[in-house]
Amino acid sequence: MSTQKTASANEPNGLPDEKQAVSVLFVCLGNICRSPMAEAVFHSLTKSDPRIAKIDSAGTGAYHEGDPPDPRTMDALRANNIDDYDHAARKIKHSDFAEFDYILAMDKDNLSDLRSLKTRLAKKNPSMERAMGNVMLFGDFGGSKGEQVVDPYYGAHNGFTVAHEQMVRFSKGFISQILLEGRNQAP
Ligand code: 4NP
Repeated sequence: MSTQKTASANEPNGLPDEKQAVSVLFVCLGNICRSPMAEAVFHSLTKSDPRIAKIDSAGTGAYHEGDPPDPRTMDALRANNIDDYDHAARKIKHSDFAEFDYILAMDKDNLSDLRSLKTRLAKKNPSMERAMGNVMLFGDFGGSKGEQVVDPYYGAHNGFTVAHEQMVRFSKGFISQILLEGRNQAP
């Protein structure tokens, strides 16, 4: 699910123009477990926030392209009162780097893959570099630098509960550091 909102300069939303609203892309490997969960949780916490322009998720791999989220992700969301989430897995696209202000990786492998891709794209198209999104570890917003969301795909159901707690904590950190304080770089 890609959620798009438009903030208008004429709306009493506290934003001078829509450029200040940020777009956020969550990225994991398969785009069926962690990043869809991050997207759904972040969306639930920012639903009516005009400072968010667009939210989506993607995978660095294409293994599950077109698939719905893992049932254990949906269970964890439903257990936390999110029952309207709908998503089809997709692989990250080159255009995502221009379309999203923040590209947030779930673990350090995802981060490294995204940074390599961004570097390759910037080399091919140097004029695009300045407009490319910030690639960061989502867990850097959790209170201590470098916290990763461990891939729960092959693990116990409990891994999805742990991941959910992280998604809430990291989302709240992002909201307070980027949206409230207006920082636009890593915490
Ligand atoms: P995700 O989990 O990256 O959190 O979506 C995974 C899902 C599937 C696979 C790996 C990780 N897989 O290898 O199929």
